[in-house]
Amino acid sequence: MSEFVIDRVWALQVLDSRGDPTVEVVVTTKGGGVGRGIAPAGASRGSREALELRDGGRKYLGRGVEKAVEAVNKYIAPAIIGMSSYRFREVDRRMIEVDGTPNMSRLGANATTATSFAVLNAAANTEGLPLFEFLGGRRSRLLPTPLMNVINGGAHAGNELSFQEFMIVPVGASTFSEALRVAVEVYKTLKGYLKEVYGPMATNVGDEGGFAPPMKSVREALEALVKAVTRAGYEVGKDVLLALDVAASQIYRDGKYVVDRSEMTAEELLELYLRLAEEFPIASIEDPFAEDQPRYFKELRDKLKGRSLVIGDDLTVTRAELVSEYFLGGVIDGTIIKVNQVGTFTEAERSITTLKELGGRAIISHRSGESEDTTIAHIAVAYEIGLIKTGAPARGERTSKYNELLRIEDYLSGDAIYAGSKFLK
Ligand code: PGA
Ligand code: ZN
Repeated sequence: MSEFVIDRVWALQVLDSRGDPTVEVVVTTKGGGVGRGIAPAGASRGSREALELRDGGRKYLGRGVEKAVEAVNKYIAPAIIGMSSYRFREVDRRMIEVDGTPNMSRLGANATTATSFAVLNAAANTEGLPLFEFLGGRRSRLLPTPLMNVINGGAHAGNELSFQEFMIVPVGASTFSEALRVAVEVYKTLKGYLKEVYGPMATNVGDEGGFAPPMKSVREALEALVKAVTRAGYEVGKDVLLALDVAASQIYRDGKYVVDRSEMTAEELLELYLRLAEEFPIASIEDPFAEDQPRYFKELRDKLKGRSLVIGDDLTVTRAELVSEYFLGGVIDGTIIKVNQVGTFTEAERSITTLKELGGRAIISHRSGESEDTTIAHIAVAYEIGLIKTGAPARGERTSKYNELLRIEDYLSGDAIYAGSKFLK
């Protein structure tokens, strides 16, 4: 096993999909393995997320990550060189120890996330296996159902849509590649529809590759999705479901929610969700209320009676303790999993296994600031998570994940299974 021993670790500053600097880490092993990892970055972050280090100052308008790069080169590298990449959980624990803070604020979650991904990839590369197989073994063959964000609003777009993400979920397909084809057909049909109704400017895209049309109401966006699905020749509610990420902490001000330019109480917003869930086949609603209002998540979940899943993101920030507390308390049906919310793969893995043990839903997710890193595609398959959020089928940082899933499906030849609607019930 000496071939797995980490012999070099270094970091450099690269760019993410928004043009912001981010951390890339390279790890090599004694056996000649090489792994890279790039940290993503969120725009609508939960307040309890692990902290990313930014330099401040004038360079890159304060967004530089030279301090995080230095944290890798100066503190992380000496602490993990000589450890086995095969025991990647021990490597992650070492980083947590070296950091010594509850939120990774010393080393930076951007430094530790990139390192954690790089160590995983180096170990898989040393073994000569794709990462999903290294992590999950030969039984891993479940390809996830994508929740594709095709209309962007909130913090991800320059329009007036209050909800952040309007998604299509191609559940009716029998393979992952077929699901992707269906989603692309709907995405392209949606583009044509938006151009027709709102003019060509409406087809500009937001941070996650979805269109950012000048719509005024959330209902309008859902109606456009129904139109696009139908026009593309599919049945809404059967072939394609819809999903929402409200990212409600972003529209919460002084005890009220600002939706479609008017103020709403939590009770009124709850009523709106119930009406929308009656009218549209909404498979899941993520962060329907602000992160400090779990009681309304619970009330919504009780009233929806399983019609749509209630999912936490800013509420749960991939912390296993919060995930189990809220799941057991009936507050949520499941959560988003974002490695950089906790700073290491091992901590995210704890949330995944916690949800699996309890019977909850996990949705592995990109961030709005992304890169060509494809680690999350492998995690999805390795842990048979069954659900992935990685944006529209456009922009290289989003298609890199879809393309990697296509490669995994190809690698598995006839053995791959598509999750379909299994995890949305
Ligand atoms: P973020 O948003 O990556 O900008 O935080 C994604 C999400 O809220 O799911
Ligand atoms: Zn979210």
